[in-house]
Amino acid sequence: MTAAQTVSNTPALEMRNISKQYPGVRALDDVSLSVGKAEIHALLGENGAGKSTMMKILAGAQPKDEGDIFIDGQVVTIDSPQKAMDLGVSIIYQEFNLVPYLSAGENIFLGREPKAKIPGFVDFKTLYTTSQQVIDKLGVKMDARAPVNTLSIAQQQMVEIAKATSKSAKIIVMDEPSATLTDHELKALFSLMRQLKAEGVSIVYISHRLEEVFEVCDRATIMRDGHWVATKDVKDLTREEIIRLMVGRELKDAIPKVAAKQGEVALCVKNLNRAGVLHNVSFEVRKGEVLGIAGLVGAGRTETARAIFGADPIDSGTIEIHGVPVTIHSPQDAIRQGIGLVTEDRKQQGLVLGMAVRENTTLANLSALSTLGFIRQREEKAVAEKYRTDLSIKTPTIEQTVQNLSGGNQQKVVLAKWLYTGSKVLIFDEPTRGIDVGAKSEIYKLMNELAAQGVAIIMISSELPEILGMSDRILVMHEGRITGELARAEATQEAIMHLATGGE
Ligand SMILES: Nc1ncnc2c1ncn2[C@@H]1O[C@H](COP(=O)(O)OP(=O)(O)OP(=O)(O)O)[C@@H](O)[C@H]1O
Ligand SMILES: [Mg+2]
Repeated sequence: MTAAQTVSNTPALEMRNISKQYPGVRALDDVSLSVGKAEIHALLGENGAGKSTMMKILAGAQPKDEGDIFIDGQVVTIDSPQKAMDLGVSIIYQEFNLVPYLSAGENIFLGREPKAKIPGFVDFKTLYTTSQQVIDKLGVKMDARAPVNTLSIAQQQMVEIAKATSKSAKIIVMDEPSATLTDHELKALFSLMRQLKAEGVSIVYISHRLEEVFEVCDRATIMRDGHWVATKDVKDLTREEIIRLMVGRELKDAIPKVAAKQGEVALCVKNLNRAGVLHNVSFEVRKGEVLGIAGLVGAGRTETARAIFGADPIDSGTIEIHGVPVTIHSPQDAIRQGIGLVTEDRKQQGLVLGMAVRENTTLANLSALSTLGFIRQREEKAVAEKYRTDLSIKTPTIEQTVQNLSGGNQQKVVLAKWLYTGSKVLIFDEPTRGIDVGAKSEIYKLMNELAAQGVAIIMISSELPEILGMSDRILVMHEGRITGELARAEATQEAIMHLATGGE
């Protein structure tokens, strides 16, 4: 029988009237979601709307307070991740769940390793042949034996995807998988999704990039503040309507670029080299300037940022701040020189998840708040409150631990932290990744303000509209080299892509 013949009217998944209360937050209030067989269903909403919570309940990672879950029309009890897996539900979490020192293959088969003939031993030969096949099927280049902590963020995301899709699940949840992917991996992901759909698998797809919804999704459910707002066929929706349903008001999401007055050269980088990674990377950025860095995954953009920030060693090269050569061996050195790095990986480099919003906000600049080693608490609170308001960080109080914030709101705390350091040079690495449409324009506004105050900004981004919209000047990288520079006026998507693929 073909997939079309088996389609019945019973949804593959129904979540009915789900409610969930966290201390101080009603994360879900009577939310329902129905996903058909072989359907790709988008779950949309602003940061903190309750999307991940809904999916954590389905995956058995969080208990619900109220409501029922049906799979193939049968009511089910999902009280543990194992139970969800047994019922054919597989989830790719927004925050990675990989074991860093294990290999990609070991992570893919974690908890269900093929057994060797000798009891208690893993059959590594089978594990690696099978996991390599799974990886190859995704169409990405990656060695199944590579330890996860040596992989790029995009590759780690692909390991998560391989892990979830290799379990022959009936329902697969993808919580913002695309946030860390660029073109190549994204195409591979979409073709995998279409293939799964053809095999009759149902997919719940969460993303803040609406163009993806139009590309792969059949229907969409929109949530706002823990409530269900609408469920519609994607073909009956427009981008404007989705945004209106998400934020509850009309919203212009055009990028409000304001060119600031440019001053002297704030940062000058000369001939940065790191074997196999960076080749003679040289550029400068002026006070008040927004320098965009575009390129594909693996082009060396993040590596450039990490080298300047002292997070990775360099083999040779010089860095000058306001014309003075500086030595940067560690992030502490960089911070002392007035350089800040807003990272793409908030979990590993940006935040202390177990600490409060307040503490994370002031973490990198405590000296500004201390007298003789004591923190002036009232002032610290005022600072944290200011950024909470400025960036609309959704949290019941500034004392909430960052772990309990939604993904996008965690990203805003990373931003708050660096804004508060008063850096002279701020490097943003994928600053709006995982951030909803409304909050995006707030972040662009903030960049404008920082530039107006004379901060030099380097913005690494894989979103071309963002690069084109916000940059005064654009550098394009390919395989560890700068392949070209474009002035704002002459930059187009085509020109950038040409240089990003080597510029022949
Ligand atoms: N463990 C927790 N403890 C307390 N509050 C939580 C916890 N997890 C989530 N919340 C809160 O529940 C609300 C919904 O969060 P959720 O993570 O579901 O949002 P989301 O729609 O996935 O947002 P994003 O797009 O930013 O990922 C938020 O206000 C969040 O702060
Ligand atoms: Mg989320």
